Amino acid sequence: MEYLRLNNGVRMPMVGFGTWDIRGKKGKACILEALEVGYRLIDTAQMYDNEDIVGEAIKESGIDRKELFITTKLHQPWASYSKAKKGIEQSLINLKTDYIDLLLIHEPYENALEMYQAFQKASQSGTVRAIGISNFNIAKYESFIQHCNILPAVNQVESHIYYPQFDLKAVMAQHGTQMQAWGSFTEGRKDIFKEALLIEIGAKYHKSAAQVALRYLVQNKVAVIPKSAHKDRMKENIDIFDFELSSEDMDQIRTFDTGSSLFRWY
Ligand SMILES: NC(=O)c1ccc[n+]([C@@H]2O[C@H](COP(=O)([O-])OP(=O)(O)OC[C@H]3O[C@@H](n4cnc5c(N)ncnc54)[C@H](OP(=O)(O)O)[C@@H]3O)[C@@H](O)[C@H]2O)c1
Repeated sequence: MEYLRLNNGVRMPMVGFGTWDIRGKKGKACILEALEVGYRLIDTAQMYDNEDIVGEAIKESGIDRKELFITTKLHQPWASYSKAKKGIEQSLINLKTDYIDLLLIHEPYENALEMYQAFQKASQSGTVRAIGISNFNIAKYESFIQHCNILPAVNQVESHIYYPQFDLKAVMAQHGTQMQAWGSFTEGRKDIFKEALLIEIGAKYHKSAAQVALRYLVQNKVAVIPKSAHKDRMKENIDIFDFELSSEDMDQIRTFDTGSSLFRWY
């Protein structure tokens, strides 16, 4: 596993395990498998209604808490200063931990700044190691940071070969905010695993299209959090650090960029 340093010096794994839509006993088993195959970053959110099983899996895994990196996010019901304070306490209870590694505002809510003030306080008190945002575009990001005392460590956004958002990444790099990709496989909106070019490039390195798609982002310094409920795919998605795409490969993959979101939520 490779790590990067966030703008406050905290170390974050480049590849994490996404847990959207993973719930219940089966979900806990998936998280345990992910930990077993080597994932150390688990991405959850209050909106996913699964922080409890993330906390249980972490305890049951027996892995030292210090080796793990837990990201969670607060959404609309916690969108004020006092609500966000309560939301953080709730996440700590759900996750059965006394600190969160990375806490994000799930979407650019009207009261995002108020929420962020509670995040800043929590980061000063040590209950949260790093704070950030999610789904902020360039305009929203630039306006938001005007009012922050602590610059966001991470902005978690849609990013995949068809819409990598490298323009946003470049703007954020000027302020030390790390881009982390969600939907790096497009959540099934495109049949990325059958892209002929990715398969062709992968064949040179004995890697799959999925591994090439993730490697492309990671090589562009975008952190990723792919989700899979299958152990073989979990292993495949983390096994991307023993090869390097050539600059020609990178240029070819770049041609997939349409400049348009596949989700258009924001
Ligand atoms: N901040 C936000 O607003 C936001 C939004 C969306 C997601 N997220 C986070 O980002 C994570 C990742 O996004 P996502 O789960 O939506 O989508 P994703 O990672 O783009 O795609 C997941 C899909 O790809 C399949 N898959 C995974 N690895 C594969 C492989 N090697 N070969 C073939 N198929 C494979 C999975 O199927 P199987 O499970 O059947 O293997 C699943 O259907 C989420 O889990 C969540 O933690 C954040």
